[in-house]
Amino acid sequence: MIRISLALGAIAAVAVVFAAQAASAEDDPKFKDTARLYDTYCAQCHGLNRNGKGVNTVGLSVQPRDHSDAAAMASLPRDQMVRAIRDGGASVNKSALMPPWSSVFTDAQIEQMADYLGHVCKCGKTNQEK
Ligand code: HEC
Repeated sequence: MIRISLALGAIAAVAVVFAAQAASAEDDPKFKDTARLYDTYCAQCHGLNRNGKGVNTVGLSVQPRDHSDAAAMASLPRDQMVRAIRDGGASVNKSALMPPWSSVFTDAQIEQMADYLGHVCKCGKTNQEK
């Protein structure tokens, strides 16, 4: 019995090493789950490339924010970003075309999304200051 669990432990350790290697330097593993949420819920508007050019933007009267624009994103206070994601664009006097996500994400997931956006725009230092 002990031998079997030791063997399983060794297999698990190898699996962890492989998983870590699979993630590229560009795709920080700590944001893997959040990046997947973004692809599912945000990319339709904000784009698979995070540049605001999603497939669902044709005919939107206000274009989605370009999350890869370091200068523009750095000027967004983190609080405002969190609130826009949680309660929608209208809650921060922006377009209601940006939907609220509080019924989809937990508060922790919304905070992680704000961290992730700081990572995407490479202006994280400004945005991660609380
Ligand atoms: C239906 C299209 C749509 C979807 C889906 C969407 N957004 Fe947006 N988002 C917008 C639009 C449009 C704006 C621009 C609002 C404005 O500038 O008035 C925006 C703006 C934003 C902003 C900037 C808010 C500000 O204060 O300027 C953030 C941050 C944001 N979106 C995050 C997200 C995240 C994270 C998701 C996924 C969970 C998401 N959005 C999904 C349309 C969308």
